[in-house]
Amino acid sequence: MQDMIYTNCSVATMLKGDKPYGLIDDASLVVINKSVAWLGKAEDLPDHYADMCLEDLGGRLVTPALLDCHTHLVFGGSRAQEFEARLNGASYQELARHGGGIASTVLATRNATDETLLNDSLRRLDSLIEDGVAVVEIKSGYGLTIEDELRMLRIARKLATLRPIKIVTTWLAAHAIPPEYRSRADQYIEEVAIPGLRLGVEEGLIDAVDGFCEDIAFSPAQIERLFKEAKSLNIPVKLHAEQLTDQKGALLAAKYKGLSADHLEYLSPADVPAFADSGAVAVLLPGAYYTLKETKLPPLDSLRQCNVDIAIATDCNPGSSPLSSLLIAMNMACTMFSMTPEEALAGVTRNAAKALGLSQQYGVIAPGALAELAVWDINHPAELAYWIGGRPLNKRISALENK
Ligand code: NIG
Ligand code: FE
Repeated sequence: MQDMIYTNCSVATMLKGDKPYGLIDDASLVVINKSVAWLGKAEDLPDHYADMCLEDLGGRLVTPALLDCHTHLVFGGSRAQEFEARLNGASYQELARHGGGIASTVLATRNATDETLLNDSLRRLDSLIEDGVAVVEIKSGYGLTIEDELRMLRIARKLATLRPIKIVTTWLAAHAIPPEYRSRADQYIEEVAIPGLRLGVEEGLIDAVDGFCEDIAFSPAQIERLFKEAKSLNIPVKLHAEQLTDQKGALLAAKYKGLSADHLEYLSPADVPAFADSGAVAVLLPGAYYTLKETKLPPLDSLRQCNVDIAIATDCNPGSSPLSSLLIAMNMACTMFSMTPEEALAGVTRNAAKALGLSQQYGVIAPGALAELAVWDINHPAELAYWIGGRPLNKRISALENK
């Protein structure tokens, strides 16, 4: 990445403050050594940058590059037939209880070659990249043996060598109980989820630990067993919580100082203050809400009142959210959750970075942050959540191009 002054642009810094979007019109932005060195009004550019190369951005809008902080991007097959079954009246929980749902993707993933998994995942990743995404979190969770779970994460990491993207990997072995452990969930945690976590950490493959805390998956006590292990290994935790029922998963994530609790449609407003105290991010996943035709909304007003940072992600997965556009997730968050376009953009920049523990480097445009930027063919940042499938990205400016 070349040192450069970008000029003739408006910059949505996404820094918290008085100005909506932290917007600076008629801006210049100085990039030195892959980081933002200066930004402000063009007329205030300090003289000592005068010798640097200059690129005119033609009046375009610049934002931080986007982060998709919750995906299950690596998986085998599709669940289009289950989509049909749901439209014919079956529920997500019923399908899961009868060997469909996550279990059917587990079978397809175990049976897929590395090459197929990689190529299918690349297509989905490319779709996210076209939306200006620079950082993608990818979970395991469709292998459910130690080796298949580790294989998923190795493939996830491989993606980062093929595209200008940062991949963050999450151990989600506690996603579903595989058929060979039916009615033996405790044993699965002890024999697969925990020993696999130790091996994955040894191999440097795991950035965080997640679980599915739900009556069709793992109980809070089983998840807690896993979280204790994660803590002892110094790996941060997060949780699929309150997606279908209220299991008090968000409070469990809070107790373990989690990075985030995700989904949260069934989070009780009464539990929000305690969740807020932990500083965890609430990650909302409108793609799953939409696909499952959920009607219970996450408690937006309570989250706002308690100043909880809210992130938005695609939850890209074959069952509940076959969505590979983060901009469409923003649009859905506005239309279905009544979030504002500014909240939605904060949800895929500043707050998504926080949910991944990457706040220092990503998600805002400020001196010292990495120069991971998106340049858009639009006039105002609200348009990012407004267009549906418009593909407004002009280009990314990225240190990840020549990693
Ligand atoms: O985030 N809720 C659990 N996991 C995914 C769905 C996985 C699937 O259905 O394959 C989710 O919605
Ligand atoms: Fe998920």
